[in-house]
Amino acid sequence: MGRKFLVALGGAALALSLAACSGGGAGSGEKSGDEKPSDLTIGVSMPTQTSERWIADGNAVKSKLEAKGYKVDLQYAGDDIPTQSQQVDQMITQGADVLVLAAIDGTALSSQLQAAAAAKIPVISYDRLIRGSKDVDFYVSFDNYKVGVAQGTALLVGLGLLNKDGSKGTAKGPLNVELFAGSLDDNNTQYFFGGAMDTLKPFIDNGTLVVKSKQTTPEQVAILRWQQETAQKRMENLLTSSYNDGSKVDGVLSPYDGISRGIITALQNAGYGKGAKKLPVVTGQDAEIASIKLINDGVQSSTVFKDTRLLAEQAVNAAEAFLQKKQPQANDTKTYNNGVKVVPAYLLPIATVYKDDIKATLIDSGYWTAEEVAAGQAKK
Ligand code: BGC
Repeated sequence: MGRKFLVALGGAALALSLAACSGGGAGSGEKSGDEKPSDLTIGVSMPTQTSERWIADGNAVKSKLEAKGYKVDLQYAGDDIPTQSQQVDQMITQGADVLVLAAIDGTALSSQLQAAAAAKIPVISYDRLIRGSKDVDFYVSFDNYKVGVAQGTALLVGLGLLNKDGSKGTAKGPLNVELFAGSLDDNNTQYFFGGAMDTLKPFIDNGTLVVKSKQTTPEQVAILRWQQETAQKRMENLLTSSYNDGSKVDGVLSPYDGISRGIITALQNAGYGKGAKKLPVVTGQDAEIASIKLINDGVQSSTVFKDTRLLAEQAVNAAEAFLQKKQPQANDTKTYNNGVKVVPAYLLPIATVYKDDIKATLIDSGYWTAEEVAAGQAKK
């Protein structure tokens, strides 16, 4: 109680000092909605540049806003929570008119959000829902539960237990699988892992799939900050602890392409992918170019494509609505309870990509070029 009161006070004090120093200008909440775009600044905070999707997200949001004449303050936080808090604090004190935030830790920005609310700055949660705060005004993301279902399904399809059309495949168990989840402080992780496990559980329960390590809880399988190296280490440990009896891993549920590449490296170092020791089926997410090459080369099995261009567009629409004193258009007002309130959301569809989908889904849509896929590298 005492702490909450202090935080609330802190927010109010910051708001007061903002109003005092900005003289009723940017960030004071006194905008009429009639300003020129060039008088308005949108603060955009992205988690990290180590994963190419966030670079694409940041660039897309920035360029789309700038094309409409707005000013943009885009910051990356290097996956460091204090850095992100500081960057957002600074956006507020420098008079941002709207904030677009992709949080590193979904619960770590609440005092920033309080300050933003006190200064009447609308906050859009970008892709990752900010939890435990009433001051999140809108959420733009994908259907995150469906991402998890798609990953679980892609593992079953890769293993031959299901066909792509959902019918029963020809493979027979038991097949050995291992499970990975993303960072537990990212609200999306529970949806990804939940959707995947709802899909895989019947196969685990009837013995078709065997998790030899017996590590099946989110806490056991999570990878902090989605780090590739951490995933590689965990896969190495799993191979040593559970597969040193000559048994083989047949499939690995991976929630993100960077994690998939860590897993694949560990497997290759242990001799998988040579001779008769086939690489297991490995899933993914984000259609990162390095993984698309691996899928094209038959090394990684699948990924889940989430078109960041469309997500950026929704963030821009929502920001513009707030700047014009309107409510952004939501297509989901039920799913995303952040612990304090249900946040109105705009959710976009997703697509599973196997090798034979690369052309239609990624190249024909202009997301990657054929040359980039062949090189496994994005052209600038
Ligand atoms: C995003 C994923 C991404 C992951 C790691 C999640 O919040 O929804 O697209 O793979 O973070 O960056």
